[in-house]
Amino acid sequence: MDLVRTVAEALAGAAGLPCEDLEGLLEVPRDEALGDYALPCFTLARRLRKAPPAIASSLARAFRPTALVREARAVGPYLNLRLDAAAVAAVVLPAVLEAGEDYGGSREGAGRTVVVDYSSPNIAKPFGIGHLRSTVIGAALCRIHRRLGWRVVGVNHLGDWGTQFGLLNVARERYGREPPPGVDPLHHLLGLYVRIHREAEADPSVAEAGRAWFRGLEAGEPARLAAWRECVATSVAEFDRIYRLLGVDFEETRGESSYNDRLEAAVQRVREAGLLATSEGAQVVDLAAHVERLGGGEPPIEEPILLRKADGATLYATRDLAAVLYRAEVHRFERCLYVVGAPQALHFRQLFALARLLGVPGSEGLVHVAFGHYLGMRTREGSIVFLEEVLEEAERRSAETMRASGKFASLYAELPGEELEAIARAVGVGAVVFNDLKNRRIKDVEFDWDRILAFDGETGPYLQYTHARLASILRRAGEGPPREAAWGECADERVAPVVRRIAGLPAAVRRAAADHEPSIVAGYLLDLAQSWNRVERQEGMKVIDAPPARRGALLAVVAALRMTLASGLSLLGVRPLARM
Ligand code: ARG
Repeated sequence: MDLVRTVAEALAGAAGLPCEDLEGLLEVPRDEALGDYALPCFTLARRLRKAPPAIASSLARAFRPTALVREARAVGPYLNLRLDAAAVAAVVLPAVLEAGEDYGGSREGAGRTVVVDYSSPNIAKPFGIGHLRSTVIGAALCRIHRRLGWRVVGVNHLGDWGTQFGLLNVARERYGREPPPGVDPLHHLLGLYVRIHREAEADPSVAEAGRAWFRGLEAGEPARLAAWRECVATSVAEFDRIYRLLGVDFEETRGESSYNDRLEAAVQRVREAGLLATSEGAQVVDLAAHVERLGGGEPPIEEPILLRKADGATLYATRDLAAVLYRAEVHRFERCLYVVGAPQALHFRQLFALARLLGVPGSEGLVHVAFGHYLGMRTREGSIVFLEEVLEEAERRSAETMRASGKFASLYAELPGEELEAIARAVGVGAVVFNDLKNRRIKDVEFDWDRILAFDGETGPYLQYTHARLASILRRAGEGPPREAAWGECADERVAPVVRRIAGLPAAVRRAAADHEPSIVAGYLLDLAQSWNRVERQEGMKVIDAPPARRGALLAVVAALRMTLASGLSLLGVRPLARM
């Protein structure tokens, strides 16, 4: 059930425009007195060669009411639509109850493939907070596309190759491979990393030793390969712990190193396309010289992309080129999303331009899904935050907050310790994840423990708590929601807005995928939960004690609302809790 689509269909005839075009334009007016939906006519003006207000009034004249859309009125450049609330409830609620926690999905992605390159931490470097953002945003985009029927290949493009292995292993040889007692292996590696970097800054011979070590690795020296493998295994084991906590799973984990034997062929392909140039001994592509061929009015890219240094060494970009060729060949993607921080924007512009110049299939669907920084995160030496410590602290703090609040007294009295722990963990992780996803990804994330864990703010715990309360109403009702009910009971001005919002999930999921923006789902869920909580606050919404006809209808609303929240929260990676 997709109410926005149904409304668009009702308008399509009058507008003489395809339903898909209208669907993307429909919005919910801030002021409900104006209508249930509004169609702003600005972007239609060019196509229809008319002024927006003239379009709105001619649409209003041509509109024929349906059982669902009762009225269309032009107000300035807007066409405001009024729906029949009982009819909305009659189509929306049974459909949501039928779809269950998959509600919001569709088949629009059937037969299409999206590759999502995300998380992609660097081995032997810490899993930084930027990688948390990539992991959380990327995993949400994977789930969202999957819900829309896409074939999703989530790829962890591990940074497992590069000169950092040289320095690190020089440090391991000098100061010991084994962590001292009580220090876990990744912290040990990180300690070495910080220490040797400091030394290399002061003493050029250390840096040179690192480069020499890496050259031996690139030449395939067995002992060095073995040492490198140890570092990779240590890091991956740690990363996996984090992925388990976050409920993240990749279809493909392929490090940069896995492309080593494809680099020569990739550069050769560039050469054969006549794009390779030599600059001071290095092999580069002068994108500025070629980019006109791409058309599309892209701003010129001044910096050439460097594929091989004068000493023959390959680079991050070379491996990314090999990776995109590999993905096009093996996965045959329509879209390939790179969920990577905004500072790498130039790298991706260069890579995408090169892929387009080479005519890589799917290269029109390459997207850099950029995001901003974290603000206010407490950092340790070298501005490093251990993600696992953050998640553990989240669990500890959420347990404290819940224990201190009277709201959860009965929970603490009834549930065994390990269930309480699991709840605290889900709330803590949910708080961090939701805080990351609630604003547009390009904005910086503010991190303040008290704010993100509050049960009454725009937070993950707030949504989880709302979900748990709905689940509790349904438990106490002791009966399932009816598929048929007196839907007129859902037409009053308190309940109708809730039902109309329940109907909005499919559109939110669709837009989130189109804009690569999970925050659209997050914002939708907050608005949904707030609309219900307003109702509860105003009149205590007595579901269970209501007269039978109203009780049935309200139970359907509560059940559909719970499923909608559960569906949306799971898309984001926040666990909907039955009790808390
Ligand atoms: N490992 C890189 C980093 O931490 C991110 C890799 C992103 N993916 C890619 N295909 N370049 O900066």
